[in-house]
Amino acid sequence: MSQDPEQAKKLQDLLKMLSLSQGDTSKLTQPQRKQFEEYKFWKTQPVARFDEQVDDEGPINSSQRPEDIPDEPLPLLSEFEWCTVDLTNSQQLEDVFVLLNENYVEDQDATFRFNYSREFFNWSLKGPGWRKDWHVGVRTKQSGRLVAFISAVPATLRVRKKLVKSVEINFLCIHKKLRAKRLTPILIKEVTRRVNKQDIWQALYTAGVVLPSPAATCRYAHRPLNWSKLYEVGFTGLPANATKTQMIAKYTLPKETDTPGLRSLEEKDVDEVYDLLEKYQSRFDLVQVFTKEEFKHIFLSSKNVVYSYVVENGGKITDFVSFYSLPFTVLNNPHYKELGIGYLFYYASDADFQYPDRFHPEGSLKLRKRLNRLIADVCIKARDLKMDVFNAMSCQDNSLFLDDLKFGPGDGFLNFYLFNYKVRPIAGGLKQDNTFDTEKRSSVGVVML
Ligand SMILES: CC(C)(COP(=O)(O)OP(=O)(O)OC[C@H]1O[C@@H](n2cnc3c(N)ncnc32)[C@H](O)[C@@H]1OP(=O)(O)O)[C@@H](O)C(=O)NCCC(=O)NCCS
Repeated sequence: MSQDPEQAKKLQDLLKMLSLSQGDTSKLTQPQRKQFEEYKFWKTQPVARFDEQVDDEGPINSSQRPEDIPDEPLPLLSEFEWCTVDLTNSQQLEDVFVLLNENYVEDQDATFRFNYSREFFNWSLKGPGWRKDWHVGVRTKQSGRLVAFISAVPATLRVRKKLVKSVEINFLCIHKKLRAKRLTPILIKEVTRRVNKQDIWQALYTAGVVLPSPAATCRYAHRPLNWSKLYEVGFTGLPANATKTQMIAKYTLPKETDTPGLRSLEEKDVDEVYDLLEKYQSRFDLVQVFTKEEFKHIFLSSKNVVYSYVVENGGKITDFVSFYSLPFTVLNNPHYKELGIGYLFYYASDADFQYPDRFHPEGSLKLRKRLNRLIADVCIKARDLKMDVFNAMSCQDNSLFLDDLKFGPGDGFLNFYLFNYKVRPIAGGLKQDNTFDTEKRSSVGVVML
């Protein structure tokens, strides 16, 4: 099939944002960071300096109380005003779609867009305990157009042994025409103010850019599910010495899943799976601790966004796995309207529970086998849901299966940050040369959208 080179280039750029890599990028390093003092905004915030020696993990500044926090936001330039975006109002929800769809990804002509859905926002931004005033927007006074957005959702984190009442910050987005005008610091200060007013002083956030200072760094990995489509839209090239037939064969998955007892998660499983996940998560150093209500919201409430499965044998649930969907709309393409993208989410397995040490060789082998089969099966499920590529990160125990299951390393890294909390580095699942670390794996157990 012929490809429009312009179109192909744009899609490649876009997928690069999602860090789909086509070659060997094992030597890739993160972009050079600035010196701490050069971060004009971040150097004023309660964050650790690079390579700071952390003896005691915990809050950096713990002297403030909600009464000390101003009741009013910082002033904006006179053309703009602060707003609270009411996501229960369909027009306002639409405003957020438009802003994010047109500005969240750097594609000048918006030929390809994230296809955020109403359901995706309801799922990710309206979980238990959500607050309307944590959906912070900036509008132009004249037209009322939404030009910037940032959100916080409540989350209890566990950082090593300590529980940290916190929020997760996500969907920071500024209209392309308002970039490089130092609006980001003002948005961050405003969401911080609104969160502090609720007596919460810590936050978890992720970014591809290097800021002071990552608690962990993970790498993206991608597993083609529909190689020929990815090839036809110009995302992937044909390696030298390979034929299309060989490539298709390489990525072709079995027709049927292989794990006996694999089925969708149901309401009746909640107690058992909740316990299984909690036990599995205890091996990691950075996790989100869910309440049962949160668990239900996250894994059962949005059937077209998140897909959750269990493995039940002899009346016992041994494994749990989930992934979510966030497709691209492909505009102006005669053949394809959408690119389906699945993201591996939370999972748990009892395969190595009998071994007290996570790194016990026998236990690791058992878990590796179990996960290989389980994740291959969810790739099959994702393919059957018409997804074209399946993404995962080097976090959790993923390095046990990424290479085996033909996930290619991506060009991009994702840094995890804690606001107002000092922490020693947490393993991100990467070796010195940025290849996946099958031995040490990752101690990051939280998955951010
Ligand atoms: C990310 C984005 C909001 C940054 O806006 P910008 O106009 O380039 O930056 P501003 O001039 O407003 O602010 C610059 C400051 O914000 C910081 N900054 C930039 N991106 C950041 C991020 N993702 N998270 C936190 N701080 C960030 C910069 O380091 C700089 O602070 P410094 O002087 O301490 O270094 C904007 O590029 C955007 O909307 N991008 C598309 C969506 C996106 O990538 N969102 C981030 C997802 S993590």
